[in-house]
Amino acid sequence: MAGSRTNSRLAGDLLIELSRAGDLPLHRQIEASIRDGIRSGRLRLGTSLPPTRTIAADLGVSRGVVVEAYQQLVAEGYLTSRTGGYTQVAIGPESTPTPVRSVPVPAPRIDFGYGRADVSNFPRVAWLRSIRRVLIEAPNDRFGYLSGRGVPELREALADYLNRVRGTSARPDDVVVSTGYAQGIALLVQVLAQSGAKRLAVEDPCADDDARLVAASAGLEVVGVPVDQDGIRVDVLDRTDADAVVLTPSHQWPTGGVLSAESRAAVLRWASRRGALVIEDDYDAEYRYDRAPIGAMQGLAPDHVVYAGSASKTLAPGLRLGWLVVPRHLVDDVAAAKIAADRGSAALDQLAFADFLSRGEFDRHLRRMRPVYRRRRDALLTALRERAPELEPVGVAAGLHLVAWLPPDLDENAMVNAAARRGLGVYGVAPYRISCAGDGGLIFGYATLSERTITEGISILAAVISEVRSGDPHPPGRGERFSRVGIVERAGAAAQAEHANDVYPRRDS
Ligand SMILES: Cc1ncc(COP(=O)(O)O)c(C=O)c1O
Repeated sequence: MAGSRTNSRLAGDLLIELSRAGDLPLHRQIEASIRDGIRSGRLRLGTSLPPTRTIAADLGVSRGVVVEAYQQLVAEGYLTSRTGGYTQVAIGPESTPTPVRSVPVPAPRIDFGYGRADVSNFPRVAWLRSIRRVLIEAPNDRFGYLSGRGVPELREALADYLNRVRGTSARPDDVVVSTGYAQGIALLVQVLAQSGAKRLAVEDPCADDDARLVAASAGLEVVGVPVDQDGIRVDVLDRTDADAVVLTPSHQWPTGGVLSAESRAAVLRWASRRGALVIEDDYDAEYRYDRAPIGAMQGLAPDHVVYAGSASKTLAPGLRLGWLVVPRHLVDDVAAAKIAADRGSAALDQLAFADFLSRGEFDRHLRRMRPVYRRRRDALLTALRERAPELEPVGVAAGLHLVAWLPPDLDENAMVNAAARRGLGVYGVAPYRISCAGDGGLIFGYATLSERTITEGISILAAVISEVRSGDPHPPGRGERFSRVGIVERAGAAAQAEHANDVYPRRDS
């Protein structure tokens, strides 16, 4: 991490050394800076650390990176999370270093991390066929500089697919291919700012990092609008004076609500009245288990809604493939912003995806994965019902994650930290709240875990609940906290073999 490109920056009054050139992940670098500050006495016992959002904005990293660093330091005992959502230095320089604290806490053995597709099921063979085919057949000019919208083959295939499956109203010329939703939202925010927009509304809570960071650097104010079980509160949105709103109407992230037909109509009336833009993040609509899919909002008002999709949940985030269906009056500006950003996405990947879509391989992959994810979701729901009935799962009908609300006597932070000490990765809703307080809840991603591992994880969670309830934590012993082998031995050889399935990739045939 040392080197000429290492920068010391003040982030929310904390001096953090960050290098984007080194091998060390960003969250590890932030951890190291704070740990050093505590060890040297620069950060004294009882000092309150700035909110993760502030540090993330100052450093230009996603909030998840800072949350991960804080969680690690809490697990190591350097920091403590206080009710009310703030974090304090838990030890003085005289109490460090102790041999125990200098040993890094391992990554969770069972990790309900959300937002992940099971990339071990990536359809490698079918993708390879598509790559091979397009490499042989693509005309030479596809290897030159391309339009900011993307290759025509992919825009045609996407428009066909989205109109057929998601009920959009898309022409190939309305489509702009991006490197994932992250870039798509950045391009949109940029275009909005250039056109004089001042305020961007987002759902509260939401996975707002992508939108929030670019909005802040483009000078747009971000306002959070609370969601209830039916999605965003349109009555509150109405009072925000926003120029655009980012929504996840098919499966609110993270709470899983579906925006009701009535609310959809109300949002569209709001957009039409204000001349505002609705950005529809349709991030996981393909995975719907118990009810018929709900068509995209874009199909109802293509002049007011940008549809945003991504291959990150359906195929793999590493592909960095995303797409926007943009109202006609904005599409040239968005395509120009894409050219200015990176001269266009990689042509071969776009052509391969176009081939994959138009040959029905994407549909086949989704048909194959839906029952896999459904079984994992069912295992999670059964385990929660049997072993943690005090938790209330919501938003279970779709996607790759669910939220379980906690009863008032179970503090969210205490649960997350106690679970981490037992090698269980569960994640709170609070870090994703913008300004609206709300009930404590845990987000469970289930897509990458086998059914047996899910059941085992929820058994550990049941012990965590008892520990937090007793108010007299009996943290696991050193072996359990710091030795991966110790935990696996206790869980048994079968679980160990099962866990191996979660870790090592399987190939499709
Ligand atoms: C709410 C939400 N939208 C969109 C995405 C997709 O982002 P990207 O395409 O940049 O990987 C994710 C991925 O986790 C997400 O959680």
